[in-house]
Amino acid sequence: MLGLPAYADEKVSGSTRDRRISRSSPLSIRRRGFGNPVCSQITDIVAIDGPVGAGKSSVGRRVAERLGFAYLDTGAMYRAATWWAIENGTDLDNPEALTAITQSMPLYMSDCNGELRVRVGEQDITEAIRTPEITRQICKLAHALGVREHLVRLQREFSARQPTVADGRDMGSVVFPKARWKIYLDASLEERARRRAAQFAEKGLQVELAELTRDIEERDRKDMTRAVSPLRKAPDARVLDTTQLTFDRSVDAIVDFVREVL
Ligand code: C5P
Repeated sequence: MLGLPAYADEKVSGSTRDRRISRSSPLSIRRRGFGNPVCSQITDIVAIDGPVGAGKSSVGRRVAERLGFAYLDTGAMYRAATWWAIENGTDLDNPEALTAITQSMPLYMSDCNGELRVRVGEQDITEAIRTPEITRQICKLAHALGVREHLVRLQREFSARQPTVADGRDMGSVVFPKARWKIYLDASLEERARRRAAQFAEKGLQVELAELTRDIEERDRKDMTRAVSPLRKAPDARVLDTTQLTFDRSVDAIVDFVREVL
């Protein structure tokens, strides 16, 4: 396994430690079974779920900053696994092969000046995991039980080490059933598509709104209807509809909710 990560001296949410997410992490703690809510104590986790483009990552990161919690973007983990599988020429239709390759992935995630950086080994793949090709193929890995088991284990190990804001699709329902705070972040489809288009425009990319809307709908449909860990609101999650909310108001609403319960 590789030595000290390249980002070792970069700031990570108040500490100078790189947060390594790897099966063989020397910091990893006891193993927990997938899908088994063994996390029997209430834990200091803000679990944020929701559909594509609801603002989970941007809002989640800012909430983490405000609270002094670590931030975990689990979508980036599925993206990194997809990139790694493609890079290694893995058969994307073979769930066993996908599980094996995911288990071999030396994944590092770090917060660099408020921006998430993702590496596999020495290679920075922060931008590479956001391509349309990765987004198209990701459902193959997201649907593979063994892939999920492995990534869920890493997510639980990470959050057991520090208070964490974690966003994804199955945070409140499967990964952290005992999270102290659960949020289901939502917004209308039109608003989510509009926000996504604005993000692309910021990067100088023009996308057709109707096509973007169809893509979002299709990804949500796949995430909501898959057999393993589908996207759904946990029964005890608080719904935050951000259609009419600014970014700052959305962040404030979650920070207030956390402080209410603290
Ligand atoms: O959050 P993001 O859009 O980057 O996630 C990409 C994809 O990864 C999702 O559409 C979903 O299929 C998968 N994912 C998942 N479970 C998570 C996070 C992401 O299945 N906890």
